[in-house]
Amino acid sequence: MVVVGASGAGKTTLLRLIYGAIKGINEDKFRPTSGKIIIPENARVSILLPGEIEPRFGDESLLEHVYNKTRDESLAVEILNKVGLSDAVLYRAKFWELSTGQKERAKLASLLAERPNLLLIDEFAAHLDTLTAMRVAAKLSRLARQAGITLILVTHRAEIIKVLNPDKLIFVGYGTAREAKGEEMKRFLGE
Ligand SMILES: Nc1ncnc2c1ncn2[C@@H]1O[C@H](COP(=O)(O)OP(=O)(O)OP(=O)(O)O)[C@@H](O)[C@H]1O
Ligand SMILES: [Mg+2]
Repeated sequence: MVVVGASGAGKTTLLRLIYGAIKGINEDKFRPTSGKIIIPENARVSILLPGEIEPRFGDESLLEHVYNKTRDESLAVEILNKVGLSDAVLYRAKFWELSTGQKERAKLASLLAERPNLLLIDEFAAHLDTLTAMRVAAKLSRLARQAGITLILVTHRAEIIKVLNPDKLIFVGYGTAREAKGEEMKRFLGE
């Protein structure tokens, strides 16, 4: 599912509310002022809100970091490959040694290693060049479909939305959220 909308429309807020409802966070920022959010009982959520909620990395190598979460070495390698960090040099690298775009991919790997069935990502691929972003988006959407992960991404970039080929496109606009269908979705993608 891709969430679109103008700056300040409420996209990040929407992700916070979903996350807050699942985690039972008792902070105004994570709670709706009115209404109720209904969440399936089996939801295992992971979230990336850049600069706000992010996985924590220490001095361990990337492979160690992901392995510490999966406890399965081949799965750890597979996850790093999925996010486009498939070089053995990168497996051994520490987080702080990475470029900004590599860090973004490392964060995605860390979240996938938590084996969520609901993954919320704000400002998806903001630091990746178009080709890398498209490659990561393609792998991520394939993985989500194979593994049965509900993926909710915020992104503005039409080329990435196209590659993701989302089942739903949600327009957020100053207090409302609605689904774009058929022709409207095509228009948005510039088809
Ligand atoms: N708890 C809150 N109480 C009141 N207003 C809030 C609260 N949280 C966010 N806002 C306001 O709601 C609006 C939407 O913010 P939000 O960060 O969700 O926008 P956004 O769609 O993610 O924008 P951008 O694309 O720039 O990231 C902003 O004007 C923000 O200041
Ligand atoms: Mg935002």
